[in-house]
Amino acid sequence: MESEGKIVFTEEQEDLVVKSWSVMKKNSADLGLKLFIKIFEIAPTTKKMFSFLRDSPVPAEENPKLKPHGMTVFVMCCESAVQLRKTGKVTVRETTLKRLGANHSKYGVVDEHFEVTKYALLETIKEAVPEMWSPEMKAAWGQAYDHLVAAIKAEMKPSH
Ligand code: HEM
Repeated sequence: MESEGKIVFTEEQEDLVVKSWSVMKKNSADLGLKLFIKIFEIAPTTKKMFSFLRDSPVPAEENPKLKPHGMTVFVMCCESAVQLRKTGKVTVRETTLKRLGANHSKYGVVDEHFEVTKYALLETIKEAVPEMWSPEMKAAWGQAYDHLVAAIKAEMKPSH
């Protein structure tokens, strides 16, 4: 939702993201893993992008290196929700965004991968906090994710 160039992200939306994250946080390593297992089920070719999966004889779901990436996606979405409400934009440090953009281009991440990840993220949250889940919560996480990804993608375009 945008008005006069500023994104409208309400206090209620921030609250929905923050309160569900505060419940999920204690299981964040498992959830991070679950998120990527879902992504690999839907889009198995994405496994090949991860150097530590390519080079490892251990099955992906048992690879301890997979957890931190999934956790990062959760944490950064949550931070994005807080920033969206406070400032109306995603305020990730510019150097971090530039690095994320450049790195994800290099790994070969494309729009469809971000789409699959959004779907998997929302499913993971739904299963993690079924008692809290609602269409409003889905929309709040979805928006926080979309704006974060838009900020990363803006740094993925070599022409920018
Ligand atoms: C690496 C964040 C989405 C694939 C990383 C790293 C971070 C990160 C922090 C570590 C490297 C660095 O700091 O530059 C995120 C965030 C995402 C996201 C915040 C979305 C909001 C995706 C998606 C894919 C992906 C959709 C593909 C399905 C990768 C790969 C690596 C990586 C392949 C390198 C892993 C390795 O081989 O070491 N990501 N990522 N990421 N990401 Fe993401």
